[in-house]
Amino acid sequence: MAGPSFPRVLRAAALIGAAPALVLLALLAGGHVAPKPGAAGLLACAAAALLLGRVWIGDLARLAEALRRAAAEDGRVPEAAARAPLLPAVREVADGVSRLARNLAERGELVGRLRRADEAIVEGLPDPLLVLSPNRAPLRANAAARTLFATGEGAERLGGDVAALLRHPALADAVDRALAERKPQAADLVLPVPVPRELLAQVMPMEPALADGGRIVVLLSDRTRERAVERMRADFVANASHELRTPLASLIGFIETLRGPAEDDPAARARFLAIMAEQSERMRRLIDDLLGLSRIELTEHQPPVGRAPLAEIAHAEAAALEPLLRGRRMTLTEALDEAAVAAPADADQLAQVVRNLLENAVRHGRDAGEVRLSVARAEAGGRPGVALTVADDGPGIPREHIPRLTERFYRVDRGRSRAAGGTGLGLAIVKHIVNRHRGQLAIESEEGAGARFRVWLPAAPPLG
Ligand SMILES: Nc1ncnc2c1ncn2[C@@H]1O[C@H](COP(=O)(O)OP(=O)(O)OP(=O)(O)O)[C@@H](O)[C@H]1O
Ligand SMILES: [Mg+2]
Repeated sequence: MAGPSFPRVLRAAALIGAAPALVLLALLAGGHVAPKPGAAGLLACAAAALLLGRVWIGDLARLAEALRRAAAEDGRVPEAAARAPLLPAVREVADGVSRLARNLAERGELVGRLRRADEAIVEGLPDPLLVLSPNRAPLRANAAARTLFATGEGAERLGGDVAALLRHPALADAVDRALAERKPQAADLVLPVPVPRELLAQVMPMEPALADGGRIVVLLSDRTRERAVERMRADFVANASHELRTPLASLIGFIETLRGPAEDDPAARARFLAIMAEQSERMRRLIDDLLGLSRIELTEHQPPVGRAPLAEIAHAEAAALEPLLRGRRMTLTEALDEAAVAAPADADQLAQVVRNLLENAVRHGRDAGEVRLSVARAEAGGRPGVALTVADDGPGIPREHIPRLTERFYRVDRGRSRAAGGTGLGLAIVKHIVNRHRGQLAIESEEGAGARFRVWLPAAPPLG
């Protein structure tokens, strides 16, 4: 550290030495002191004042410098400041200052610890939480919110989905009301992408504002599952009872015939029992499909975990369909890339996708036709992925039906599909599985020229 500046030392010395020097000068002038000792006294007085001034100013300058640094850094007064000020009064001030600084530093640490504890609680909350600035910009999101809105793997930043959420009219309205009325508000929201979600948003105005400037806290609870359960229950009863009524009515009819007119007719009995077995089998398949569909719907908003070697899965499913293919004299060609691995993915569900699409090609294709099954790697918008394609050369699907094929129980030709043993749930199941995998399903068809179903699924980025 540089020494104290000379003009300041001079001024301090003048302050210290002025009074004794003036007294000495007065004594000299009045002849009360001989000139020589008087001059010596004046000199001694000036020297002592200079020395004292230098020490004084030096101590104070060191203390001031230490305080400046403490303010700029973390509130800790460097040891050098407390080091040996020569003047007792300055030493006392220095001691007091370092005690005060220690105190402040301890409090600073406490505030930091409390803040970190607060952040840990918010971060660890199981429900998604967003903190917004007074102009509604997102400032913070806890781990649950980041998971909810993560668009890709490892996406830590808040992306377009948060912006879409904040633009939602019901939420924007709740935020307005919360700020105007200074009271918490709630809003029910439906977010259509990336998978439909139903959320309950609780909007809390913060007064005073949070440490990071946050004025609004939005707490989201995912009600998708509950609402899906409610709706599914209603749908299930309506659709299933409708679909079950036909085979059930025929079963009841046959039972009555067997009890009455056909009681003693072994040939008719055998024929009716065969039909009854077929109808019961149809009912069993319908119930299996319905239960499978509700299971998939319940987990649709939870992304899958694991990896699915698509080529292996596709090959195994194709082999299992061999008898069905032979029954219709169809040929199957496979083009399978072993390196196509879907991830994150649920291998069992993807096997079901392959099975349903192949079954459709066989069931709705043409006799002695050709089914092409392919699995390949396919990037989509820079994201690594895999594509599964099932194509046939059957009658195809009229254009106007294509958008509705994935609805439950939707069949182009109800009678024909039913005769072929279909319930109209296969593609609904495929769509839900593909949605759960954050994939895409594309259906292309030209009437008379076959149909082509293409499923794109995300894949893990290549290693290394
Ligand atoms: N490859 C195809 N060629 C022509 N039409 C098809 C093809 N795949 C599906 N379809 C049409 O789409 C409808 C819906 O298919 P979906 O798989 O959902 O039901 P399904 O095959 O009738 O019954 P299941 O529930 O047993 O699969 C079918 O009924 C059929 O009309
Ligand atoms: Mg089907």
